[in-house]
Amino acid sequence: MIYFGVYLLCFVAWSSLVTADQHGAAASVSYHKQIVPILKRSCQGCHHPGDPNGDLIVTTYADVKRGGMAGDSIVPGKPDESLIIELISGDEPAMPQNQEPLSAEEVELLRQWILEGAHDDTPMEVDDMGEGNYPTYTVPPVVSALAYSPDGKTLAVSGFREVLLYDAANFEIKARLVGKARRIESLTYTADGKILGVAGGSPAQFGEVQLWETATNTLIKAMRSSYDTVYGLSFSPDASRVAFGCSDKTVRVLSVADEKELIKFDNHSDWVFGTIFSTDGTHFVSCGRDTALKLVEVDTGAFVDDINSSNKGYGEINTIARHPHEDQVLSAGEDRIPRLYKIFREIRRDVGNTDFNLIRAYEAQSGSIEGVAFSADGSLLAIGTAGGEARIYNVADGKRLATMQGDTVGVFAVSFHPDGTQLATGGFDGKIRVFDTASGKLLNAFMSVPIEATASEDVALAVTGMT
Ligand code: HEC
Repeated sequence: MIYFGVYLLCFVAWSSLVTADQHGAAASVSYHKQIVPILKRSCQGCHHPGDPNGDLIVTTYADVKRGGMAGDSIVPGKPDESLIIELISGDEPAMPQNQEPLSAEEVELLRQWILEGAHDDTPMEVDDMGEGNYPTYTVPPVVSALAYSPDGKTLAVSGFREVLLYDAANFEIKARLVGKARRIESLTYTADGKILGVAGGSPAQFGEVQLWETATNTLIKAMRSSYDTVYGLSFSPDASRVAFGCSDKTVRVLSVADEKELIKFDNHSDWVFGTIFSTDGTHFVSCGRDTALKLVEVDTGAFVDDINSSNKGYGEINTIARHPHEDQVLSAGEDRIPRLYKIFREIRRDVGNTDFNLIRAYEAQSGSIEGVAFSADGSLLAIGTAGGEARIYNVADGKRLATMQGDTVGVFAVSFHPDGTQLATGGFDGKIRVFDTASGKLLNAFMSVPIEATASEDVALAVTGMT
């Protein structure tokens, strides 16, 4: 045991010397070059914004720094007081959970990095990106959102700092919409297809809602809100308002015309992931980690009702979708069971808190549900899950119509072509897959972004912005 420790110290000292030699600078572990690859490979799968186990996200430095449910995960300068080190060390390390432990060298790197102060050496972003100067990728980005345009001609796909527009006929890139938000979490077209709404932000910096005019692919509004990425964007039916969920447990509603914040609803007790408006636009529904499905009046911002009986232990609600023509909302998440609810209550609550608004609970899925969508005519329902499966159901009787492998790790987004014949899926492996809805047959699979040849040293997502 002691010999092993000495060996490790030698190893670190030796590799530090090499670093010092090469760069002529003080020996130190690089967060960007050495720590990020470990977190990416061994931790990110269970600690990303879509699935932050223990409330811990490791996808950015700010997130790592913020820590998790138990508070700080790292204490700069003090590896022995750092929860991360405690959990990855020992004979049977708790993390990565149920997987191969990190190698002794990797544990030592993390320990040394924290000992040296846990500094962030992520290169500064060169911010001259835009038309003609696009982000470059050396590894596939996670696809967190996708949406077909109402006319069926375009498939919008989330990238890093950008939205890529694909021609839905031949799946070639038509345009790339580059904004300031590093993460894109949600994509929604207005019903008339004139505006593409984008929600996201830069973690621990700002949340942003972007409105792109689809006729010209120009950014007409970039509305900042809250200090963190925002989720689950929806438009009111007349497109005069946008609603979205925030990590500060609020739902915000902004006026599209003057960007004013009309509502800051704070009745949730945890992150809010989804919003939808009622068919007449008088109410909105929101959901999130607190397992609640809340009904709110738009004019007053007043809480009206808990639509589901969230005390039944349904788990976190990751996503919701409204039926295209009815006041019905599909709610889905951690407990793997999609549930269709009436938005407006017809039977008063009873003491047992019976789920009176429930229309139908669908079959349990094989993993936590991350993405749901209705077909435009309201007859079909698509579900995407952690584990990588996507399924299609008949809305009316709950019959399963197709089962598809939509991703190698997890499906985070699903969207029907407006004519109902095709379903697009996207997720962790960065590929877009398009299926025939009737047969479940894979029609096309392609990488969501152009990938550059991998630079030998830099395995992290490279955003050069320079040519
Ligand atoms: C297979 C899933 C999985 C993987 C992979 C994984 N974790 Fe976790 N992690 C979890 C779960 C689940 C929890 C919550 C544990 C609990 O509630 O008991 C957790 C909790 C934690 C916590 C405690 C957070 C807090 O504040 O409570 C830390 C720190 C942590 N993980 C670090 C890591 C690191 C570092 C790695 C990679 C080396 C990693 N995890 C990989 C599932 C995972």
